[in-house]
Amino acid sequence: MSAESLFGGPHPAHQAGDALADVGRAAAACELCGLARGRTQVVFGTGAPDAELMFVGEGPGEQEDLQGVPFVGRAGKLLTQLIEGIGLTRDDVYIANVVKCRPPGNRDPLPDEIEACAPWLDRQLELVRPRVLVTLGNFATKLLLGTSDGITKLRGREFAFGRAGTEAVLVPTLHPAAVLRGGGQRLAEVRADFVRVKRLLARGAPA
Ligand code: URA
Repeated sequence: MSAESLFGGPHPAHQAGDALADVGRAAAACELCGLARGRTQVVFGTGAPDAELMFVGEGPGEQEDLQGVPFVGRAGKLLTQLIEGIGLTRDDVYIANVVKCRPPGNRDPLPDEIEACAPWLDRQLELVRPRVLVTLGNFATKLLLGTSDGITKLRGREFAFGRAGTEAVLVPTLHPAAVLRGGGQRLAEVRADFVRVKRLLARGAPA
């Protein structure tokens, strides 16, 4: 499949699953940045192709790199609990990351790696078209809001998101790994953000 057809025009919603699978297969061979050299496999994304709720994290850690699925380690278990806490399961939502390959030693992704990987995330957004988009931590929030403000300043609010054919409400929240490090106060904050997400989903599709 050509890069043009992968990053090209919109697909009808019913084709999103097939199209996502195609894009995932193409991403599996990606060598657009140096992270390709150290990965076990590309961790593309998981969940419902037509999800109303989509999460974007930072990048795969050790377990994700081994299993090929985002958010399956300790931080992932907390994310799963938070999702279940608002009455959903991981199968109801779509989960992706800013970078699809594990940075060595779990270091932060570099600007050129984020830039190289961004078209894959754009394609996921364009196909899933979530109504509510939750950015987990600084990297996803800065990339998708186009801001240099940090997550502690931005969380607790909601933003209009329009990009890659998607119009959504973007809810920035803390990265689950930061919550694990930060204790009760951080957990209360992330839970409050998930209550906001639940309320937004209940509000129904925008007119
Ligand atoms: N942290 C992330 O940001 N993404 C994962 O997939 C796992 C941990």
